[in-house]
Amino acid sequence: MKLYEKLANSLRQQILQGFFQNGDRLPSVRSLANQYKVSISTVQEAYRHLEMESLVEARPKSGYFVLSNIANYSLPETSRPPQRPLDVSQWEEVLNLLLAKGDKDCTQFQHAMPIMEGASLKPLLKKLTELTKRNADLSLPYGDLRGIADLREQLVRLTFNSGCLLHPDDIVVTSGCQEALTVCLRAVTSPGDIIAIESPSFYGSMQAIKTTGLKVIEIPTHPETGISLEALELALDQWPIKAIQVTPTCNNPMGYSMPEQNKERLYRLAQSYDIDIIEDDIYGDISYQFPRPKTIKSFDTDGRVLLCSAFSKTIAPGIRVGWIAPGRYRDEVTHIKYVSSSMCPTLPQLAIADFIKTGGYDRHVRRLRQEYQQSREHFIKALTKYFPEETKISFPEGGYLLWVELPKGIDTLQLSKEAKHHKIHIAPGSLFSATGKYRNCMRLNFSEQTMAIREDGVRKLAYLIELTLSRKV
Ligand SMILES: Cc1ncc(COP(=O)(O)O)c(C=O)c1O
Repeated sequence: MKLYEKLANSLRQQILQGFFQNGDRLPSVRSLANQYKVSISTVQEAYRHLEMESLVEARPKSGYFVLSNIANYSLPETSRPPQRPLDVSQWEEVLNLLLAKGDKDCTQFQHAMPIMEGASLKPLLKKLTELTKRNADLSLPYGDLRGIADLREQLVRLTFNSGCLLHPDDIVVTSGCQEALTVCLRAVTSPGDIIAIESPSFYGSMQAIKTTGLKVIEIPTHPETGISLEALELALDQWPIKAIQVTPTCNNPMGYSMPEQNKERLYRLAQSYDIDIIEDDIYGDISYQFPRPKTIKSFDTDGRVLLCSAFSKTIAPGIRVGWIAPGRYRDEVTHIKYVSSSMCPTLPQLAIADFIKTGGYDRHVRRLRQEYQQSREHFIKALTKYFPEETKISFPEGGYLLWVELPKGIDTLQLSKEAKHHKIHIAPGSLFSATGKYRNCMRLNFSEQTMAIREDGVRKLAYLIELTLSRKV
């Protein structure tokens, strides 16, 4: 991390934790340079960075001031799900969300869709066209069952950035991360087994658990540090849990990244109870932190961590390229992948391998990281400006999703129906629990459309929320 980034991070934390309040004057450039023993230009660069995020403003001849009204807003509390194994429900609600398209003029807060335009994606699109026109001989035959060698080699390089030391033979390419998760669940469990998950949790992995005939136990989860290791240990003592399934980096729906020491502790816990971990890292590369955080897999010395990911959140979901580093389950995973969907299409694999090899992927995620971080600041600012004061909002450390907890009287399933009439789409909170909890919560996406459209959508949602609350008094 560059010096100015370190300094900007430190100032950002101080602002967000309320150490500096909205309108406060920030330390002068000179005093910060002395305090942190860095050059004047490093401090200026750090402030410029925070200005771009709309967290601070420079006033002529007066210095820098806190601009943000996101300082000191409340995070949700640690969740308190039912502490026993349960069947997953909610398929109908999930299906409704998956089928909801929305016209072009709708405000799209509901799907976890990345930015899919801009110059940084062009080399990939060009390669896809070139391969289609000139290299049909490469893309039409059956490919390697585990994925084409070129791509697996590049994936070894990418996973090195998250602390892993893998070999191309340690990787199995899949059709997106949803298939990766399902294949891993089938590899490590038998019907009737119990899986521990974060709460709230991504609805797709819960539905995979459902169709594999498993039960879930939702574990209390903190909006900044992730799954509670203490609660998990209690559950492990009480129930015959077979595996843990987590999204510990840039979590969906809350956006947190579990601190590295917690990831290591989670791995040690799995070791001491001799169970497996299915780690979903689909958003890991778009962490705002650079270099990106380590995975739990990076601590794995006995192959009990099955790392799943895909390019659906960094490149485009329609490209359907995902992968697994299955550790000691490589043979089972390869077999299940074969019976599940056989080989993956070769063309997108070739194009992505080239995109990574030629540096295009790194450039693309660097751009996305900056854009999402700026959008987070604007979006939280809009939410704190328009939503009721009691609203609690998670603070994503990567990706483009956040979790909003509204006052208790609001039912977000109902809100989503009303919002649709105003051309606004949201993901209701109940989808992120096995049993339909979190009815006053919702997940919002801040990657799609412009900031102006998003702010307008937030303003309209706030109006609908106020209307509901006023009907209740
Ligand atoms: C955490 C998480 N895992 C897995 C998936 C599924 O990814 P894919 O579209 O690659 O199947 C998603 C998609 O939203 C996700 O958010």
